[in-house]
Order: sequence, then structure tokens, then C-alpha cells
Amino acid sequence: MRQPLVAGNWKMNGSRASIAELLGGLKAGIGQVTAAEVAVCAPAVYIADVQSQLDGTSIKWGGQDVSVYESGAYTGEIAGSMLADFGCHFVIIGHSERRAYHGETDEVVAQKFTAARAAGLVPILCVGETLEEREQGITEEVVGRQLDAAIKHCGIAMVGEGVIAYEPVWAIGTGKTATPEMAQAVHAFIRGRLASNDQAVADVVRVLYGGSMNPKNAAELVAQADIDGGLIGGASLKPDDFLAVCSAANS
Ligand code: 13P
Repeated sequence: MRQPLVAGNWKMNGSRASIAELLGGLKAGIGQVTAAEVAVCAPAVYIADVQSQLDGTSIKWGGQDVSVYESGAYTGEIAGSMLADFGCHFVIIGHSERRAYHGETDEVVAQKFTAARAAGLVPILCVGETLEEREQGITEEVVGRQLDAAIKHCGIAMVGEGVIAYEPVWAIGTGKTATPEMAQAVHAFIRGRLASNDQAVADVVRVLYGGSMNPKNAAELVAQADIDGGLIGGASLKPDDFLAVCSAANS
């Protein structure tokens, strides 16, 4: 059995005050979420605050990106060891916003996956097609290419130490969710691609859905055989909504 995982991706949102309020709300309600693993991925400058507020709770935390480098003259970059230094458990890798706005290629994303593992972090590898790619009927080709790049660079055993997040780009922040059936089809494809490399890895790796997941649609999505939780953007900024998604995944 794969333990469900719900991770919040706060993206570039919040302030010290709003984050303290959000975490206060999460801590007050998280006691009901006993089966699912829960995490929040914060903007880097707030990770120290998050650590001090979540230390000793069941909620884990993580970063939203990591450098491919270990240290050195890379202005603005944040090394995996730095995230680990602040107690991060997870780090998001290859989010479509980083691929689109920061030119991250499949190769760079794979290097980041390796860098995260070298620092002992659990990478959450994001894959997903754009609307144009879906309309062209090349969703599996795109997602397969993104996954294969990580498997080729890192090896299937290392990919097995991470988490995959299927985030159709057209569903992110748009209010348009993939139907449970559409999402399940891609999740099954992802698991099949992992299985063709190593069945044991495919059995244990969690594949999360991300893209306008919210309290209304979460239960139906996580009920699908190959959907093991969610990577939540907008709804992770409201304690009640995030906790409701966590509860839906809590079985
Ligand atoms: P939304 O939940 O806001 O659509 O964002 C999803 C996402 O990009 C999570 O990484």
C-alpha cells in the first residue's frame, strides 16, 4: 500500500504574518489526518519560519526548487544541503512554471532530481502536458519523455526514491481540473512506464495529481487506483480547504 501524500505548493505567495496564520490553522486541524502524509512547500525565505512552527508536528515541509550545484558562485541559487539544513523533507522539481518561465529542460530537471537526492531530500518530480500538446494527442509522448529523462539520468532506483506529480499545465490555476478518468489514464500510463523499468518501483512510487485540486473534487480524484494524493496550489493557501483535501486523501 502506498501512503497517500498531500503537499501544498504555496508558490510565490504569503508573508511572515499570513504564513503564521495559515500554519496555525493547519496545526489546529491536522490531528484528524492520521493516515495521509502532509507537507507544505514554502518560498525559500520563509522555510526557517516554517521549520520553527512545524517542528514536532506531523506536517513536513519542503522547498519549491533546488540548484543543480552543491555550492559556489551561483548567485541566487539554493543548494539541496541548505534546504536540508532547515529540515526540509521534500523539494518540488521541474514544476511547469519553472520549465516555462526559467527554461528548465528535462536534462536540468533530472540533474536537480539527483542534487536533491544527494542532499537526502525527497524530490517531487512534476510532469505534464500543455493544452496544445493535449489537443495534439501527444500527452503520453510528452509525459513519457519527461519521465524517461529522469530515469535515464538518475536511474530507476533513484526515481523510486522520489514522488511523481502529474500536473496538466492547462489545469494549473485555471479552475479546470482533469476529470478523474482523464487523470487516472495518465497516472496509469506513468505507473506503466515505471513498471517497464522496474515493477517494484512502480508499486511503491506515489503519483500525485496537481491542477485545480480542491475540497470539491479531491475525493473523486484520490479514489482512482493510481492517484496517491495531490500537489495543491491555490487551495493550499487556505487552511480549511487544504485540510479538507488532506481529509479526502486520508484513507
Ligand atoms: P493549483 O492548485 O493552483 O491549480 O496549482 C497546482 C500546482 O501547480 C501545484 O504545484
